[in-house]
Amino acid sequence: MLEILTPDEIKSFEENGFLVLHNFATPERMEAIKNEATNIINGFDMDTVSVFSTEDQRKMSSDMYFLESGDKTRCFFENHAFDSTGKLTKDKHLAINKLGHAMHDLHPAFEEFSYTPELAQVAQQLGFVEPSIAQSMYLFKQPAIGDKVDAHQDSTFLNTEPASCTGFWFALEDATQENGCLWAVPGSHKTYPVTRIFKRNNEGTGTEFVGEDTTWDLSKAIPLEVKAGTMVVLHGALVHLSHPNKSDKSRHAYAVHVVESHQTKWSASNWLQRSPELPFRKMIEVANNLLL
Ligand code: FE2
Repeated sequence: MLEILTPDEIKSFEENGFLVLHNFATPERMEAIKNEATNIINGFDMDTVSVFSTEDQRKMSSDMYFLESGDKTRCFFENHAFDSTGKLTKDKHLAINKLGHAMHDLHPAFEEFSYTPELAQVAQQLGFVEPSIAQSMYLFKQPAIGDKVDAHQDSTFLNTEPASCTGFWFALEDATQENGCLWAVPGSHKTYPVTRIFKRNNEGTGTEFVGEDTTWDLSKAIPLEVKAGTMVVLHGALVHLSHPNKSDKSRHAYAVHVVESHQTKWSASNWLQRSPELPFRKMIEVANNLLL
């Protein structure tokens, strides 16, 4: 069997809750998803944003836009990119915050990037039996307006029983402290159990946090400055964050979140739900099919 991770790397992941693997993604595959992201934004009709007149209507429409994105490709824009009348103040390509959340199952370039035997193997070496990809995100972290991402644990947002969420984050451009690289608190996946869950509300019209809030000691966070092509694996309970991008350079990244399908239950209250036509797909199966 193909072995990607060394025993030391596996041990390091278990101890620290993250792992940095250089030169994991090929330049060709990165180029392909960057181009596809550009195509998706080209095809996005800005009139579908801010069509509602009142604040309440806007909130409700953006909640549903998010909640229905689990099996779609949708564009989410930076709050700072709109003026008081709801109009974009920048070109849409420079105003977009992210694409989400099912590109890996809807676009061949994203599918080929996400379902590789190498990535499936890394997941297996980290203990997955039947890893499936629950969501994908293309993160733009735009120059000057790319917003911060507050400290969080990914398992708060993608909940399985037992917990299994693991993030695979790919730098598509060099990520530095200037343009808003990831920061992680080493070992925090062991010290801080996930006590807070982000879920769909009972009416299915919005989202809410339930459970205790934990105060994390972020003074121990370290920057993960990495070159394009690097993959960072993130344990679902690892506390991590990123600062705003105040530089003139973008920081594009792509992330997939993987969950266990074997003897594991996807929570019915997760914000992300798939339609029966597009269930989660198993990484090993899809990767093998793509090789045929
Ligand atoms: Fe995260």
